[in-house]
Amino acid sequence: MTSGRRPIARTAEGVVEILDQTELPHRTTFLRLTSVEAAAEAIATMRVRGAPLIGATAAYGMMLAADDDSSDGAIEWAHARLLATRPTAINLRWALDRMRARLLAVAPADRFGVATTEADAIVEEDVAICSAIGDHGLAIFEAILATKPAGSRLNVLTHCNAGRLAAVEWGTATAPIYKAHAAGLPIHVFVDETRPRNQGASLTAWELGERGVPHTVIADNAGGHLMQHAQVDVVIVGTDRTTARGDVCNKIGTYLKALAARDNGVPFYVALPSPTIDFTVADGVAEIPIEERGGEEVSHLGGVTTDGRFETIRIVPEGTAVANPAFDVTPARLVTGLLTERGVIAPNRAALVAAFPEAARAAGLAPGGTR
Ligand code: MRU
Repeated sequence: MTSGRRPIARTAEGVVEILDQTELPHRTTFLRLTSVEAAAEAIATMRVRGAPLIGATAAYGMMLAADDDSSDGAIEWAHARLLATRPTAINLRWALDRMRARLLAVAPADRFGVATTEADAIVEEDVAICSAIGDHGLAIFEAILATKPAGSRLNVLTHCNAGRLAAVEWGTATAPIYKAHAAGLPIHVFVDETRPRNQGASLTAWELGERGVPHTVIADNAGGHLMQHAQVDVVIVGTDRTTARGDVCNKIGTYLKALAARDNGVPFYVALPSPTIDFTVADGVAEIPIEERGGEEVSHLGGVTTDGRFETIRIVPEGTAVANPAFDVTPARLVTGLLTERGVIAPNRAALVAAFPEAARAAGLAPGGTR
């Protein structure tokens, strides 16, 4: 699909290259990761971010571990170090558990080669999964557009960045958008700025612009108003963890969009690769750990001055208390459908277990949805 360079890649020498997303949209800088510590730092500081990309980076982090020291102890240490970087996106644990199981099953001398193959597989699987999500989402977009008067454009609203920068290619929520644009659908995207880190304004706007998809950045608080005035046909977002009963954890502010969508009869879809489903958790509000990030993300803003200098400014009175919960949970009852690589799934336990029986079984859930 993509013309742009992927946000993560492995070189022939076994080095990992990442696009430093903390510098976008102002500078395009690629960094080389050569150690577990560097991979952990890149995830924790959000040089790489987005649930699938966090998983891919952690997988390559395990490869770097095996290159350095392939003993059982070193593999376990790397798993723990990388797992501690961010608590909410379940793709991190999924990728790390998969890598650890593969590595501990072979002799230490073979581990670097096996790790390379497995991490590459995780990356390429993500591309295929997101492409399939795009195909299923395109059908939904076409059906919604068909209900509108001829010549209308399809107005989509999205939150945060669930785009190619959050995955490997395509993205999750953006995959149907890219496919619709390529198919010639008259699509336009309202992009929530997504305070406090502005992933919408900085990243989603950058990547949609890169591909020529018409879009408009809006303040987070504008979405409800636009929905009340019939300017949004469909909301589509990503997720960092979706529970066995279909509760959806995603970037802070997603829940408010789901409430506004429900109040205004706007369909609210969540796009997710199956590794984002956590069948060990049911009640998302009660059970998912919500990352609390530094207060400076709320109290300060960074950007570029007219003469090209990076500046960070404070926007609250000095010494003011701030809180920064990074994610929230949208209950399944507010979700129209879960858009996966296996099609659109109803947000309930029975439908999720029926669609992904092997993952459900691995988590101890029986077909039919009971534990
Ligand atoms: O804190 P971030 O930028 O990693 O949060 C990202 C999101 O919330 C995305 O919507 C989610 O990871 C889905 S990415 C396909």
